[in-house]
Amino acid sequence: MKAPIVTLNSNVDARDLIIARPAAGLSLQGRIQVPGDKSISHRALMLGSIARGETRISGLLLGEDPRSTANCFRALGAEISPLNTEKVQVVGIGLGECSEPTDVLDCGNSGTTMRLMLGILASHPGRFFTVTGDKSLRARPMSRVVQPLGQMGAQVWGRKQASLAPLAIQGTQLQPIHYHSPVASAQVKSCILLAGLMTAGETTVTEPALSRDHSERMLQAFGASVSIDPETNSVTVTGPAQLQGQSVIVPGDISSAAFWLVAGAIVPGSELIIENVGVNPTRTGVLEALEMMGADITQENQRVVAGEPVADLRVKSGPLQGWEIAGPIIPRLIDEIPILAVAAVFAEGKTIIKDAAELRVKESDRIAVMARQLNRLGARVTELPDGLEIIGGTPLTGTDVQSESDHRIAMSLAIAALNATGTTTISGASAAAISYPDFTATLQQVLCI
Ligand code: S3P
Repeated sequence: MKAPIVTLNSNVDARDLIIARPAAGLSLQGRIQVPGDKSISHRALMLGSIARGETRISGLLLGEDPRSTANCFRALGAEISPLNTEKVQVVGIGLGECSEPTDVLDCGNSGTTMRLMLGILASHPGRFFTVTGDKSLRARPMSRVVQPLGQMGAQVWGRKQASLAPLAIQGTQLQPIHYHSPVASAQVKSCILLAGLMTAGETTVTEPALSRDHSERMLQAFGASVSIDPETNSVTVTGPAQLQGQSVIVPGDISSAAFWLVAGAIVPGSELIIENVGVNPTRTGVLEALEMMGADITQENQRVVAGEPVADLRVKSGPLQGWEIAGPIIPRLIDEIPILAVAAVFAEGKTIIKDAAELRVKESDRIAVMARQLNRLGARVTELPDGLEIIGGTPLTGTDVQSESDHRIAMSLAIAALNATGTTTISGASAAAISYPDFTATLQQVLCI
């Protein structure tokens, strides 16, 4: 029987999600699909927009973040069909041919949109652009891309030495560089590689640990000359490049699947199959971390779809134990740390998450927010400068918690609430629409009593 325990659009506030756990007998069952990968969706829209000819995308994430990317690139001259179906067509502008928009480019909540697009805009000589975003994005560090773009000769203005949006960009002919990034960030790497497309010569990025490599894969598929040195975590693009429109098939987002992996692991008696999930090795840290914690997860039907590895993931509930999550695995699970923290709350013993200071500059300060909100539910979570220490095994009690306007916090708290006694109200849960508009519908679908 389906359990009527989840309420959205309640009489409290249309943005809230209320989860009232029944006294006993709740489990999660079923075969589900998750929305398209957010990182790949952004890149498909962007490369399609700056390529020549037509790009056909299937499986695109219809979340708020890709809508921000689509709107920006429409303003730059791309023709992008309405984002009301997962099949989207893009008629590209051609490399170096973005038109000068008459208004500010609004990136909404999306750091990926702003940082990657800056690389494209900065390499458009003679054109002027302004970019902004929501309150969260206007507080996030842009110096990490503005500084290397400056080394290439870019001209960017904004508050605090152009480290905060809104930013103004005067496009110019850039010089190639070899940039040693202090952070393992796919957004930084991708920004510089995109700037390198229009720059004569070799533009190289070396990063301290390997971050997601979707840009490298997709740039090659669109015809750019990209070489990779796995020994040194370096990528080189040779410009000027030619990009030709392609067909892109976007796999399900492992970052969205992670909510169900943890839910299936912690709610007793559960078994879920999540179909068609992208399992690119630069993204599968969450699978490894959960397996180390003792989760019963299997990858089935492994295949390669349009250059990205894909599998169906099966999870069965069972006991978890605390673990230390640190070092080079961190960039491979950075977006999954909020939901891994939830897994740790229900694991036996202590979990330490370290080397993850990057979490403080995501859509929210995810270290502070997860500690604050999980502790409201009765968890034992301590903030570390670069992570969290979690003592698992303390029962949670439902109460009022807040997403603090962060999509991944909203969904992580909803999963925690499934194992909390009584009723949990998650304020601002509609933030989930950034990356997972159907999250609540899928939750309803898998709940069984
Ligand atoms: C992303 C890279 C990661 C990730 C973000 C998406 C991307 O950010 O947290 O959600 O698509 O390139 P960083 O590159 O800042 O680590």
